[in-house]
Amino acid sequence: MIRLPLFLWGAALALPASIFGAPVDFERQIQPILEDKCYRCHDAEEAKGSLRLDSPAAIVAGGEGGEILVPGDPNDSSLYVLTTYDKDDPDYMPQKGKGLTKTEQKLLKTWIEEGAVFGGGFVHEAKPETRRKFDEEDPATARKYRIMGEAIEIVARWREAGLLVDTVNHDSSLFEVSYTYAERSAGSFDFQALEPLGESIRKLTLARTNVSGADLAGLASFTSIEFLDLGRTDIGDEAMDAIVQLKGLKVLNLRGTKVTDEGIQQLAKLKGLEKVYLWGSDVTVSGVKRLQKRLPSATISAGVRIVAPTRRNANPS
Ligand code: HEC
Repeated sequence: MIRLPLFLWGAALALPASIFGAPVDFERQIQPILEDKCYRCHDAEEAKGSLRLDSPAAIVAGGEGGEILVPGDPNDSSLYVLTTYDKDDPDYMPQKGKGLTKTEQKLLKTWIEEGAVFGGGFVHEAKPETRRKFDEEDPATARKYRIMGEAIEIVARWREAGLLVDTVNHDSSLFEVSYTYAERSAGSFDFQALEPLGESIRKLTLARTNVSGADLAGLASFTSIEFLDLGRTDIGDEAMDAIVQLKGLKVLNLRGTKVTDEGIQQLAKLKGLEKVYLWGSDVTVSGVKRLQKRLPSATISAGVRIVAPTRRNANPS
């Protein structure tokens, strides 16, 4: 039993239950907040930023910019952080409508700190299973995606190599390939295996892998890639020469990488870039501003440390 002076009991009772034991319950306490304030733009109908928040699997899958939830680390989870920005910040969520109250923010934060448990038997490790898998052995799947025979064989080989493969927007001739669960070490990313259907790859996910800048040199010919996710890898400025070869890039996620102000200036060569995610990398306000000038129509999302001095954070470290 916690001993508190009598006069403190009233205050103690007003504190969130989680402080006194019961963990935050996703279904009862978090989901209603998302439903009320986020679903209008992040459900099956809208999915702004290719992000849905209407199921645990969707939340874990994240959006166009990659993951939004890091269990145990609210400050690295854009699901939480964006709700705490200034309301006039372009990245603030929700973009329209009533924002989260302080109590709701605290609940969301505590829930993530406690490990972001969804309950209902959902486990984060289940992520690969929650994605629509490409099953070449199942004739129904093959029919559904109307994949050509040759492509089926190639895709099967990719899967044997541990890659997750999906079609893009149900288009059977365009692919999304992810190395995230393939457990490779730096130096062993043999992108030649992708070459037979390389022209058909629109999205390539290397998030959280051991990919190195040198590995990325092997991607130079994949100019049909529009979306590249390098989030939370160890790559730094040395990877930029390879990245800027990918002339088709529209969305580039460099969140949580080691890229710096100098390195990102090279991205100005990619005239088609629409979005760059730099949150948690080593860039600073001035570096982002420089790049923004050279890529005026791109959206550069750089997070808490990178803001106009009048907004969030006047002295970024
Ligand atoms: C009025 C529409 C709207 C509402 C309501 C809304 N969002 Fe968004 N959200 C957007 C748009 C548009 C984007 C894509 C922004 C972009 O790509 O630059 C987005 C993107 C995001 C992202 C991805 C950002 C990133 O950097 O990856 C997160 C996380 C997010 N929203 C969280 C939320 C949360 C949490 C709520 C509810 C509290 C919410 N949003 C409510 C419009 C909305």
